Amino acid sequence: MTSASTKSQYNETFAEALQWLWGEGYLAPGGAEDVEALLTGLEVEGRDVLDIGCGLGVITVMLADKYAAKSVVGIDVEPHLVDHSAKRAEAAGVLDRVSFKLVTPGPLPFADASFDMVFTKDVIVHVPNKEGFYKDILRILKPGGVLVGSDWLRGGEGYFSETADRWLELVHLDFQLKNLEQTRTALQTAGFSKVSLNDRNEFHRGEVAKEVALLDEKFDQLVERIGQEQADYRLRSSRMRQKVIDEGFLRPTHFVSFKL
Ligand SMILES: C[S@@+](CC[C@H](N)C(=O)[O-])C[C@H]1O[C@@H](n2cnc3c(N)ncnc32)[C@H](O)[C@@H]1O
Repeated sequence: MTSASTKSQYNETFAEALQWLWGEGYLAPGGAEDVEALLTGLEVEGRDVLDIGCGLGVITVMLADKYAAKSVVGIDVEPHLVDHSAKRAEAAGVLDRVSFKLVTPGPLPFADASFDMVFTKDVIVHVPNKEGFYKDILRILKPGGVLVGSDWLRGGEGYFSETADRWLELVHLDFQLKNLEQTRTALQTAGFSKVSLNDRNEFHRGEVAKEVALLDEKFDQLVERIGQEQADYRLRSSRMRQKVIDEGFLRPTHFVSFKL
């Protein structure tokens, strides 16, 4: 196994639960439909692409085979995820175009102007210094290159509701949520042009409702896979996420920005 010292947030049991909920290979909700929505109108074919926070590599592989990228590099901070991703790429027969790299949080280990597209799905919520991170992404993009991604944003500023506080306490992930205007400002201040953001709260209301219905209907299957305690936690966490999406605190958002 590849080695690194980052504390695991997406361990094997957690990843198993998330895939049961969100589909084989996905560590974030929305599936192929959300990826399709993100990439609509953008040129992927023949491009050099970086997938930041590739998780289990399902989207990284998709960028190469379904979207015909010339090359795709997937990076992640968790060694076991990078290992799973490499196996997935091998099984898909795309290792001639796809590679993976274990990274530590911080400056991106790539030369200036390395990529035509930087893709990232539901990762930057983990990054404390977002403006610094966007600046670094701008650096590794070629002129004319595009940053496209989705991230978990929040409504409002500061205290939102008791439910929001309870959800943030319940999830064991190091979420650092910004709102839409803060994100727009961070992208523009970092130097990106033609910044556009698309709030997907409505889409995720539907997704999380399906998720909670699945848990209610087939909870025994999840218990069999990950045990009672973890499954109970999953159920609490999904129900709480449904509340924070429905009340408008959690707002998964797509963004597209260009390096001119
Ligand atoms: C919610 S998961 C999304 C994974 C994948 N993009 C997907 O949609 O299935 C977030 C991923 O970001 C990774 N991650 C967190 N901080 C990171 C960082 N600074 N650089 C790269 N990856 C990071 C995590 O290990 C995890 O795999």
